Formats: sequence, structure tokens, C-alpha cells
Amino acid sequence: MQTIAEIAENFARRPWKQVAEADLGPAADVPTMLTPEERLLYHWLGRRVQGDGATVDLGAYAGGSAARLLSGLALSGRRFHVHSFDRFRSSRAFWAKYLPDEPLPEADDADLLPVVRRHLAPWADHVTLHIGDIGEKRWTGGPIEILSVDAAKGAVMADHVAAEFFPALVPGRSIVVQQDYLMAVQPWLPAQMVALRDCFQPLAQVPRVGVVFLSVAPVTEAALAAARVGGLTDGRLMQRVREAAKWHEAMVPRARFKAMLDQIRANPGVRLGWQMKQAAARAQV
Ligand SMILES: C[S@@+](CC[C@H](N)C(=O)[O-])C[C@H]1O[C@@H](n2cnc3c(N)ncnc32)[C@H](O)[C@@H]1O
Repeated sequence: MQTIAEIAENFARRPWKQVAEADLGPAADVPTMLTPEERLLYHWLGRRVQGDGATVDLGAYAGGSAARLLSGLALSGRRFHVHSFDRFRSSRAFWAKYLPDEPLPEADDADLLPVVRRHLAPWADHVTLHIGDIGEKRWTGGPIEILSVDAAKGAVMADHVAAEFFPALVPGRSIVVQQDYLMAVQPWLPAQMVALRDCFQPLAQVPRVGVVFLSVAPVTEAALAAARVGGLTDGRLMQRVREAAKWHEAMVPRARFKAMLDQIRANPGVRLGWQMKQAAARAQV
């Protein structure tokens, strides 16, 4: 088993960039919101998995992240299973943008499940779809090898994700991808992770806004209580963002965190990413 230092060195070399699109097989054709580098990262993470625990995909949309994880896991030589969580519903606007080859539904809140099942059919025996609000889901599936978080769009949800899924991570082995980590409108993510800095080591920033972490210590009840972000005042939230800027200074430009502070100032008390975005859009007109 690799030491934490060896894992960190390996990730610093960004070996996923050597993955060829062709290595992804049918996964390469599954529509996704992931950036090109994230697509390679997900496949590579699946391929390098170290144990037989679960892979959890929080925020699946049309199955793009799951497909890339699965294509890698299938080459890992380990037992594997991906648990994808989502409402599996789409607005017409997102559908038109991300699923241009599918017939456009007549109304919003369209059912994505038939499309997702088709996209993930090559790995059907290795996937479970957990349908509905992640905020109401519990994790009872045992150890987690890879946790991809692309659905913590509010502070309360970030607390829920941490409480349900982080205790199942295996120190020294499990990987967490915080997909939205550096988005200015979701400052609760760094605010949460910096309070858990004894439990996680940042490994890499992956454009555009993702950060990959290694679990390095168990996430206990006490650690979770200290890391909660749902009830923070704006002042405490900003303080935590400043601490995160310092924690990540070797990896992430400070401007990223300054943009988060600006968002908090412009949106007092707001703890949902889409509400912050609306305010930013209003300010521009
Ligand atoms: C950015 S998209 C995920 C993109 C996907 N990983 C990919 O590869 O294309 C975020 C997803 O999170 C889901 N989501 C956000 N909040 C949720 C919640 N509370 N419960 C269930 N799904 C949620 C949305 O339905 C959406 O499909």
C-alpha cells in the first residue's frame, strides 16, 4: 500500500492526463458536464482503485461521471459497484444543452432515467441508481473508495453529504472529488473541508473548479459537528474561507477565495448556490 506522501507525489504528476480518450471505451460517448480533464481523471481514479468498497457518484445527471468511473473500475481488477444519486430530472434548457441528440421533452422536469439507463447499460450489473432528493438519502453501503460530490449546491446539503458519506471513507485510501470546490457561489465547500483538514489531504486541483482529496483520518461525529456550515454566520463563513485560502495557498490562487468572499458580501445570509448566481446576474443588468 502506498504511503500518503507517495500518493500525493503521484497525484502531483497528474497521471490522468496520459489517459487516451480511446481508453474510455463506450464511456467516452456519454454526455457529461465534466470538463475534458475531469473526464480523464474519473476514468483514471476508477482504474487505480485500491480496495473493493463502493464508488459513490453524488449528482449524476445523464450518467457521464458514472460512466467514466465505471470504465476505469472495469479495468481495475477489483470488485466494483457505482452508486449514482440524483433526482434524475432535467429542465428543457439543460436537456437542450447537454443532450442535444435526444428528442427535446415538451416540458421541464423531464425524466432522465431512460436516458441514464441506456448510457450505463454496458455496466448495468455494476450500478445502482438512487432516485430522489439526496438530502433524504442515507448511506448504509459500507466503505467508500471514491466519493464524487457534484450535488452539494447548498450549505445544508454539504452538511448532509459529510454526515452520511464521509464516515464511510477509508483513511489512507479513499478519494473525494469535490467537483464544485472553487465555485465562487459555493463557499461552504472550502469552509467545510478546512474544518476537516485533519481528515483530508488536498491532492490536486482539476480544471475548472474541482479539488481532489485523500482521506487521511476517520471523520468522527466530533469532527463533523465542528465542520458544520449550515448555521454559520456570514462572518464565520468568511473566516473559514480565509482559512481555506491559507490551507490551499500552494495549490490554488487566492483570487478564487476572494471571489467567494465577494459573493458572501453581495448575498448576506444566502446559502444556496443558485440564489447567489441569481443575485450576481441581477447585478450585471
Ligand atoms: C452538475 S450536475 C452533475 C453532472 C454529472 N456529474 C455529469 O457527469 O454530467 C448536478 C446534478 O446534481 C443533481 N442534484 C443537485 N441537488 C440534488 C439533490 N438535492 N438531490 C438529488 N440530486 C441533486 C442535479 O439533479 C444534477 O443532475
